[in-house]
Amino acid sequence: MTPPIQTIASALLAARRVVVFTGAGMSAESGIATFRDKPDSLWAQFNTREMASPDGWRENKQRVWAWYEGRRAAVMQTQPNAGHIAIAQLADTLYAAHGKHVQVSVITQNVDDLHERAGSTSVIHLHGSLFSPRCAACDRPAEFASEPPDTQATEVEPPHCTHCGHSIRPGVVWFGEAMPQQPFRLAEDLVDTCDAMLVIGTSGVVWPAAELPINAHRLSKFVAEINPTRSELAGYMNVEWPTSAAQGLPELLVQIRQMSGT
Ligand code: OAD
Repeated sequence: MTPPIQTIASALLAARRVVVFTGAGMSAESGIATFRDKPDSLWAQFNTREMASPDGWRENKQRVWAWYEGRRAAVMQTQPNAGHIAIAQLADTLYAAHGKHVQVSVITQNVDDLHERAGSTSVIHLHGSLFSPRCAACDRPAEFASEPPDTQATEVEPPHCTHCGHSIRPGVVWFGEAMPQQPFRLAEDLVDTCDAMLVIGTSGVVWPAAELPINAHRLSKFVAEINPTRSELAGYMNVEWPTSAAQGLPELLVQIRQMSGT
């Protein structure tokens, strides 16, 4: 049987448009906690209603703001891992391999900025960003206070909107909220028109994000999973590669170079 790495490299070498769909496992090797695959994952430690719902926000804004500021601080203190960097280098690697431009688009459920910091230029955030706070009332984008986020505090007063005076909220999507339409439509279009999709580090249990790889499968695209553990999406894959993002993705670039003699 052909090893998964070879099958994936062949599919990428044949593709003109590639979608990379990522979840929390993508950033795990940068030291960012996942949500549900480990005993110390975020939703094993924290209550989703308290920390990630409009009700939790109404109940205690200071607790919610402090938690997201702690998460923002953790991201600021870490670096993209070898997997983020390999994704950012994928288009150039394929160009060196066959001299054709390949469009590589990242669709992420992550609210960190590690894909961008690794150099990926086309990144869609389905669940918002820790770095895009906005007014909870008038929805205008807002600024953080100039001092760095406090990592120890359990309650912090959120800043106030300079336009309407209401509290600024984290720019992430919470349970019970609709996903922003524009990024999701863009993501759907990218999936419709791609030739190959890599699904990396997601449990595939949160909808409608999980719909994207399933749609890709239904449209007969090549879909491959990179995850040390089989996810809910495994049944929709052409190939499952049980490896980690920071381990597997750099190896995949080496494989592409070897197969193309570059
Ligand atoms: P999960 O925590 O649900 O799943 C993480 C996945 O990453 C699991 O399938 C792990 O096996 C895999 N994984 C762990 N380490 C890995 C590594 N080093 N390399 C590759 N894979 C690894 O995270 P998500 O699927 O991203 O929503 O969760 C989806 C959404 O649920 C999140 O965006 C968040 C959460 O509630 C919002 O915040 C709206």
